[in-house]
Amino acid sequence: MKKKLGPSPIIFPMPALLVGTYSDDGTPNAMTAAWAAACCHRPPCVGVAVRHNRMTFANLQKQKSFTLNIPRSSQAAQVDYLGMVSGSDEPNKLEVVKFEAEKGEVINAPLITNCPINLECKLVDRLALGSHSWFAGEIVQVHVDEALVQDNGKINVKALDPLIYTTSTTEYHSLGKVIATAYNVGKQLMKDSGK
Ligand SMILES: Cc1cc2nc3c(=O)[nH]c(=O)nc-3n(C[C@H](O)[C@H](O)[C@H](O)COP(=O)(O)O)c2cc1C
Repeated sequence: MKKKLGPSPIIFPMPALLVGTYSDDGTPNAMTAAWAAACCHRPPCVGVAVRHNRMTFANLQKQKSFTLNIPRSSQAAQVDYLGMVSGSDEPNKLEVVKFEAEKGEVINAPLITNCPINLECKLVDRLALGSHSWFAGEIVQVHVDEALVQDNGKINVKALDPLIYTTSTTEYHSLGKVIATAYNVGKQLMKDSGK
């Protein structure tokens, strides 16, 4: 038996990310976002759902560019603060958490230097859905802490130790153990079914 909970956007887990934008006077802002995802390979795109009352929402509309920054699990307190305090009430919220920002190489949005990975994104489209809009952005540059880039060019995700969020329980987590390799563990089932 399953219990019906009614419609609710529950997906577990989600990444806890920081959306970087510039406000009107050029002050860098960062907003915590868990409702974000990769959404296209060619061109490489990501999307993020932003509520209409966020300062980030206004910044995005004006600047047409943003960064997605991937924090470490050790940065949970800073990320949580940036997810509770608006740049409209505390314009220097990055300074409060002692995070630094530098201008993107390609776009007009701040890279959050303290995060080991930064994606520079050019706004492609906005889908108004209701309380939130989905902002889709094309990734035009990716910055990764060189200590995390392995000889094969892949990112050492274990060393990155990203911050993970679970909605409903409103808890932060770190990565669990690897249980299988993708595009591989299902091969036996393909074989068994004659594919
Ligand atoms: C874990 C967590 C995840 C969040 N995810 C989102 C999100 O995906 N979209 C959103 O609009 N707000 C989200 N928020 C709330 C915003 O980060 C928060 O309202 C923030 O203060 C907005 O900052 P701003 O007004 O400076 O843009 C989240 C907050 C937390 C703590």
